[in-house]
Amino acid sequence: MRVKSAKFVISNSEISKCPQSSIPEYAFIGRSNVGKSSLINSLCNKKKLAKTSSRPGKTQLINHFLINENWYLVDLPGYGYARVSKTQKKIFQTFITKYFKYRTQLVNAFLLVDIRHEPQSIDLKFMEWLGENLIPFSIVFTKADKLNTKSIEKNINDYKSKMLISNWEEIPPVFITSAQNKSGSKEILSYINQLNIDYFNKISN
Ligand code: GTP
Ligand code: MG
Repeated sequence: MRVKSAKFVISNSEISKCPQSSIPEYAFIGRSNVGKSSLINSLCNKKKLAKTSSRPGKTQLINHFLINENWYLVDLPGYGYARVSKTQKKIFQTFITKYFKYRTQLVNAFLLVDIRHEPQSIDLKFMEWLGENLIPFSIVFTKADKLNTKSIEKNINDYKSKMLISNWEEIPPVFITSAQNKSGSKEILSYINQLNIDYFNKISN
């Protein structure tokens, strides 16, 4: 699938103010600074669609981007950023939780993890929470341009075996990406395309 148009629609902190329609959507979540906003820009071939920063804590709201007039990409604030105040963390946590629990248009969450790091307990806990709440998700490894092929392979295998140890019978779909050299973008877009087809078939029946 090609992204022919990508438009910013709305930013907010309340799910009641998110676009009201049955258009399918895909949310990007993960630790602050993992590269959520950058990957959205890379998928859309637009450098400044979602705001990015080398400093963690840039995205602070739920941001909807309409793609090909047909589906949404959703950029969310990151979790696990130590320098955000406790009150701010609580606010993020509340609206992110509400977003995932009540946003029925959400087809799949893409959970981003930095390919250079070992599995972090905050990510594993979040995956568990998604699983408990029956929210489909995929794992997206980011910043693959920073490692060679051998290390990429090793880190992914380590990640998968840690996940299997921590209660997962099956590993969700995995993508290896770089917002810098755009690797993995095609695979994510064709996965979304397939999910869109299934979604539209389901609602038309
Ligand atoms: P928050 O909004 O703060 O939660 O962060 P985020 O997850 O949206 O991260 P963002 O896209 O703002 O990127 C954080 C930093 O990582 C920026 O300096 C990006 O340029 C850099 N970055 C993101 N993706 C990649 C990548 O694939 N490769 C490299 N080398 N750097 C990346
Ligand atoms: Mg961001």
